Amino acid sequence: MDQYVSNEQSSTTLAGVEVDFDDVVMGPTGRPLTEFPEPPVLTSHGPARVIAMVNQKGGVGKTTSTINLGAALAETGRKVLLVDFDPQGALSAGLGTNPHELDVTVYNVLMDRKVDIRDAIRHTDIENLDILPANIDLSAAEVQLVNEVAREQVLDRALKKVEDDYDVVLIDCQPSLGLLTVNALTAAHGVIIPLICEFFALRAVALLVETIEKVQDRLNPRLQVDGVLATMYDARTLHSREVISRLVEAFGDKVFETVIKRTIKFADATVAAEPITTYAGNHQAAESYRRLAKELVARGGAP
Ligand SMILES: Nc1ncnc2c1ncn2[C@@H]1O[C@H](COP(=O)(O)OP(=O)(O)O)[C@@H](O)[C@H]1O
Ligand SMILES: [Mg+2]
Repeated sequence: MDQYVSNEQSSTTLAGVEVDFDDVVMGPTGRPLTEFPEPPVLTSHGPARVIAMVNQKGGVGKTTSTINLGAALAETGRKVLLVDFDPQGALSAGLGTNPHELDVTVYNVLMDRKVDIRDAIRHTDIENLDILPANIDLSAAEVQLVNEVAREQVLDRALKKVEDDYDVVLIDCQPSLGLLTVNALTAAHGVIIPLICEFFALRAVALLVETIEKVQDRLNPRLQVDGVLATMYDARTLHSREVISRLVEAFGDKVFETVIKRTIKFADATVAAEPITTYAGNHQAAESYRRLAKELVARGGAP
């Protein structure tokens, strides 16, 4: 339980009831930790719920969270498609795909209507986990899409073809709020905002929320914020704890109770090109993404 902040007080009043901290495990978000139920077994698959993993800052845990939340959902029997929507191709590389060896990527699916999305999708070594890979070609799409008709809906149209094959689609966005990210938000039912526990990270969120609201208004009224995910949390620092308090002040219950701690294991798993759930399945880092998967299902963010 070293994951969670110990509280100096010995009791408090929650909903009018005196609660002794010895009986309750408090989470980093200051709420008592919930025991989320195991996600129900699905007897049929699709249509997929599409979730965009968005933050215009780099290095906040988007790709890591896409891979590991995806792998944790796949472990529960959900059929999961991960979309690499960053020309850096870190998601593709992180699952063992060599981006330079790919003939057909998400770029071709976007730019050429004759390319079938199924020809670009690949299975990974993880059961129930597929990937639509990307490489540096995708960096040209932002410019080339500008002249397309309905340029914001290109990804949405492509994903529609496979929506019945999957239960969840996670889109790993690039660190920008440009046309590719707008395409992801237009294709999505929900947004997860991974956010590193540093004060500088909070500043970016206002602009992101503004963009989400614009897309809701003009392109995709069904879009909702599924949650804000605090990443790279360090319980030993007051700094991390203060960032979480600020997040809860700003976003309330939208902040996932599950918080991802900072650990070198993620870098090791990246080198091994595996999700943490298979690379170090018993490590608390793997457990925290499994817990996030349960929390997401419990909130209705995934079937
Ligand atoms: N919880 C964590 N603890 C430690 N390192 C992390 C954690 N999450 C991600 N990282 C590392 O931080 C770097 C940036 O993470 P990444 O997921 O690629 O961010 P983004 O996709 O937002 O740019 C990567 O090297 C990754 O391995
Ligand atoms: Mg990334």
